[in-house]
Amino acid sequence: MRHLMSPLDFSVEELEKLMETAGDIESNPQKYAHVCDGKKLATLFYEPSTRTRLSHEAAMLNLGGSVLGFSSADSSSAAKGESVADTIRTISCYADICAMRHPKEGAALVASQNATIPVINAGDGGHQHPTQTLADLLTIHSLKGRLGNMTIGLCGDLKFGRTVHSLIHALVRYPHVRFVLISPEELRVPSYIRTDVLDQQNIEYEEVVRLEDALPSLDILYMTRVQKERFFNEEDYVRMKDFYILDSKKMELAPKDMYVLHPLPRVNEIAVEVDNDPRAAYFKQAQYGVYIRMALIMTLLNIEV
Ligand code: CP
Repeated sequence: MRHLMSPLDFSVEELEKLMETAGDIESNPQKYAHVCDGKKLATLFYEPSTRTRLSHEAAMLNLGGSVLGFSSADSSSAAKGESVADTIRTISCYADICAMRHPKEGAALVASQNATIPVINAGDGGHQHPTQTLADLLTIHSLKGRLGNMTIGLCGDLKFGRTVHSLIHALVRYPHVRFVLISPEELRVPSYIRTDVLDQQNIEYEEVVRLEDALPSLDILYMTRVQKERFFNEEDYVRMKDFYILDSKKMELAPKDMYVLHPLPRVNEIAVEVDNDPRAAYFKQAQYGVYIRMALIMTLLNIEV
């Protein structure tokens, strides 16, 4: 039995296969409409979500399966003090696979160690968000035709943004990927990622504060929101929240073939006017999230078409 805790749980070859399957699902959805007939996906969300929970559910429904679950800790027995370990042992009796989001780093790992069904980490605190990374990789690959040989700008809350942490881990495995890390001093990428991942693997990167300085050199700009829920005090959040606002004027500084990604939800960091720019790819990214999660569910359930 296999779980997904980190994007590194799949080899580069396995990721390629997953993306190939996702591409085939996009072109031939009918071929996959009943491959999970009779199977159940449980979504255990201890933190708010729109895309991750509903795209997992849409993915299972598109495959012919069914879904069950809860969308907040308050509506589950966690509110009565039940542990993650006990919850997942119970859910293992009800479902064939589950996706879990939890505010604590490592919660999905604890679940996987106590489960008798595959567990998908749908976000654990400020740590990892591997299925978002799968959607990001598929989006970049579809738009640019490659995952190596490119300069990726990661902008915003690089400290708490788990999507950024997972994406860096995944992209360093491709050749000649260069990062421009764009953040205020307080929200820099954690030092363990800089030293243990980027420095250790001799990955080229620079850290800048001004988005305008980075834009002309980028192939992909990955915007993120400031993660309000991870701040210890409101004052710091308010000071940081509008540090970056990508608008049409700034987009003029970017190459014509630079795409803008964002895991969403957006707050203020991308002005709505940018949505009409053909380089805005964040809603396409949300769509790709369904195809790749369909491919993931099939893979973890060992379903071949
Ligand atoms: N990208 C993402 O994780 O969005 P949700 O919080 O809406 O699931």
